[in-house]
Amino acid sequence: MELLLALQNGGADVLELGVPFTDPQADGATIQKANEVALSYGVTLQSCINMVTDARSRGLTVPVVLMGYYNPFLAYGLDKLMEDSKNAGIDGFIVVDLPPEEGSIFVTKASSKGLSYIPLVSPTTTNDRIAYLSSNAGSFMYCVSVTGVTGARGDLPSDLKSFVDRVRENSNAPLAVGFGISTPDQVAEVSKVAEGVVVGSAIISAIDSAASKSPLERAKHLENYTSSLTSKLALKSSDSGSNKFKTAAPVIKDISNRNFGEFGGRYIPETLVDAHRELEEAYAKALADPKFHEEIAFYRREFIGGPTPLYFAENLTNKVGGARIWFKREELAHTGAHKINNAVGQAILAKRLGKKRIIAETGAGQHGVATAAVCAHFGLDCTVYMGAVDCERQALNVFRMNVLGAKVVPVESGSKTLKDAINEAMRDWVTNVRDTHYLIGSAIGPHPFPTIVRDFQSVIGKEARAQMLDKAGKLPDVVVACVGGGSNAIGMFHPFINDHSVKLVGAEAGGEGPSGLNSATLTFGKPGVLHGTKTYLLQDLTGQVTKTKSISAGLDYPGVGPEHAFLKDSGRATYVAVTDKQAMEAFFEVSKTEGIIPALEPSHALYQTIQIAKELGRDKDVLVNLCGRGDKDMMTVAKLMNVKIT
Ligand SMILES: Cc1ncc(COP(=O)(O)O)c(C=O)c1O
Repeated sequence: MELLLALQNGGADVLELGVPFTDPQADGATIQKANEVALSYGVTLQSCINMVTDARSRGLTVPVVLMGYYNPFLAYGLDKLMEDSKNAGIDGFIVVDLPPEEGSIFVTKASSKGLSYIPLVSPTTTNDRIAYLSSNAGSFMYCVSVTGVTGARGDLPSDLKSFVDRVRENSNAPLAVGFGISTPDQVAEVSKVAEGVVVGSAIISAIDSAASKSPLERAKHLENYTSSLTSKLALKSSDSGSNKFKTAAPVIKDISNRNFGEFGGRYIPETLVDAHRELEEAYAKALADPKFHEEIAFYRREFIGGPTPLYFAENLTNKVGGARIWFKREELAHTGAHKINNAVGQAILAKRLGKKRIIAETGAGQHGVATAAVCAHFGLDCTVYMGAVDCERQALNVFRMNVLGAKVVPVESGSKTLKDAINEAMRDWVTNVRDTHYLIGSAIGPHPFPTIVRDFQSVIGKEARAQMLDKAGKLPDVVVACVGGGSNAIGMFHPFINDHSVKLVGAEAGGEGPSGLNSATLTFGKPGVLHGTKTYLLQDLTGQVTKTKSISAGLDYPGVGPEHAFLKDSGRATYVAVTDKQAMEAFFEVSKTEGIIPALEPSHALYQTIQIAKELGRDKDVLVNLCGRGDKDMMTVAKLMNVKIT
């Protein structure tokens, strides 16, 4: 609280108070660390609101805006948020991953209390959109000066003036410019073109540099640093650009096509908005082009090796003594898992978009290997982000990616697994969006990714459905698939959705079980927003994403594709948690009975398949997606068995 007063005493006109979040995807190292430190001290949205109440009682008079990511606000409850914020003397909100289309309820609730929603504008924002954002601006707009993450930078971008001019052409809101500003000279420079100058990471560094001092000395240090910046502010005339405003009233956009019921959507930083629009348009165009479909079919056949067989697992069926068990042999696909279907499809889309650089995240490494393979094939530059923990447990796949010419970047932040790899890939994308396509590896993320990935993976279900009719003469009674982000499952389920006699069952990673750590999002989570989409999430009561655990790196994710959230709530599919121990049991059973070593991810689905087959009569059929082979998991299994492989 002393620091808030120090900023005011140092001449700051508006204070931006960060609300910590576990997954700050548009932030650089300094603010990431600030989030981690705050969370480690138990700072919550509630404590931020309380801090403002206290500071107001101690003489803080300048406006205060809360800045953060949407999920903690959502978990707090929007009505309560507005009420408590108003009472605390908070003036507005900057929500990095809440563009006004998704945030119309937020904007309406805020403005009904006289609180302001502050839109972000970035260099990639189109002119039409600037006008639209401006129509939602309660007080001022925040111009993100560069395509990139937060953090101090040496130089101001050379095109800053032309960017600000373009914003003014399309808006009459006062403008504050931020991202990367840290020195008095930069403040002087920026204040010549904007009404406000935002300094973020440099303030945190200034506080950090005085960490060893007493609280009072630290506050004085911050006040002096702030004065050194504010003393350089150039005076601005207040009416700049006011008569050029082009859009008078807020526009409510129909975004229902993005959603799966209440789930899905596009909760993204402003810098990425145009790339998503571009991708959506390119995909719609591709879908209308027969050549696109021919190319996809060609690669499924000639590169991936499809159709993959439908296999009657006779030995396992006899041993279990119940329903007939069928495997969709997707583990025979090129590179060893279903991931290649999506990688090929998106690489073809990226070519159509003219993007020559591909980034991807990977958990088990299968999506990374698939992406590296297609990039090698299509001559695309490839960078794969992978949690440091996963790099270790899937070392073989790291090496495969290297052999294929990809750069693998180990991610050391957060839990060092898939979620953190996605955060890092998002940060790369925010920075390099103009020439880079983010080849996301599951049916997760912002619209249109969940739909695109589902469509590319639906080849699995389409083939399996036709093969069942051909070989069994009927549809299966139950279809089972494992669910991490949910791409193999949605690809398998989707062609069966309208076959109401077919039960759909997803097997999630139950990890240590209900009382221990797990990754069973649909079983134990609740709705929230992460990685650009509204879906079920493993989170605590304050909206922070919680730690996950699974023996299988590919299922070790606290979110899930939004279409699965919809299928769960609508009752069309059911989801169960299978523990590490149970998955291992099925892993050995299938290996020894059928001579097929499954990956640890589908071992979860295989366990559930065996349970279902036991319960059903012999005249029934259970179809399971054997979505990956176990080669990549040999080290993990050997370690579990105390076997040393040199
Ligand atoms: C073999 C295999 N199956 C399943 C998954 C989980 O992903 P999804 O739920 O998107 O199919 C992975 C992820 O890496 C995988 O490698």
